[in-house]
Parts: sequence; structure tokens; C-alpha cells
Amino acid sequence: MSCIVTIGEPFWGRRLGSAAAAAAVEYGFETLGLRKICASVLPSNDASARICLGLGMRREGRLRQHIEKWGEVHDLDLYGLLRDEWRGDDRAADAAVTG
Ligand SMILES: CC(C)(COP(=O)(O)OP(=O)(O)OC[C@H]1O[C@@H](n2cnc3c(N)ncnc32)[C@H](O)[C@@H]1OP(=O)(O)O)[C@@H](O)C(=O)NCCC(=O)NCCS
Repeated sequence: MSCIVTIGEPFWGRRLGSAAAAAAVEYGFETLGLRKICASVLPSNDASARICLGLGMRREGRLRQHIEKWGEVHDLDLYGLLRDEWRGDDRAADAAVTG
């Protein structure tokens, strides 16, 4: 399953993208019970990268020359967030380490 956040340009910069992404992540972890949520972002898309990092995601790597868009080839950055990292909740990770 995947979803894309797109905000109409007149409304950019009002934190609507951040709110939509946070709601999608909450739905994924709380309602769907997902273990991990990923995002793929064009390296030139600074706002999307900041949204991912603001959610606590880590950049896990760059897929080189991975997609073609608007007639050009682009790299794609992959971001990931584990359930245990969400909202700084590392209790499950601590439990796994301490047994
Ligand atoms: C990417 C998009 C969803 C961002 O939505 P938005 O509502 O404008 O973003 P927000 O207001 O929530 O801002 C998110 C962060 O990006 C930053 N930001 C916003 N516009 C920016 C810009 N033009 N350049 C750099 N940073 C920017 C904000 O300061 C904020 O950072 P912070 O949380 O560290 O303060 C929106 O621009 C969009 O729909 N773009 C076209 C579609 C698209 O690219 N979708 C994402 C595909 S991965």
C-alpha cells in the first residue's frame, strides 16, 4: 500500500503537508498495525524531506537514476520509520535489548 501527499500550491507552507503525513503515519501504526512505514522522495524536494525527518524517519539510502519524471531521470531517496521509533517510543526496542 502506498499514498502520496499533494497539497494545492496556494496552500503550501501552512503545515498542511506535515499534518497529512502525520495522520497517515498514525493511521498506519495505530489502525493498520504496520511494523514500518517508508517514504520515497526526490532529493530536490526539500519540503518532503523535512516532513519525513520531522516525523522521525531516517534516510536509509538513495536509489540512483531510479525514476523518470518530466522526461528526466532522477535519483530517489528512501526514508523509513519503525513502529518502535515512532514518537520516540523506543520502549519495545529497549525491552528487546534487555530481554
Ligand atoms: C511537499 C508538500 C506536500 C509539502 O506540503 P506543505 O504543506 O507545503 O509543507 P509544510 O508547510 O507542512 O512544511 C513542511 C516542512 O517543509 C518546509 N518547507 C516548506 N516549503 C518548503 C520549500 N519550498 N523549500 C524548503 N522547505 C520547505 C517547512 O519549513 C517545514 O519544515 P519544518 O517542519 O522543518 O519547519 C507540498 O509542497 C506538495 O504538495 N508538493 C507537490 C507534491 C509533492 O511533492 N508531494 C510529495 C511527494 S514525495
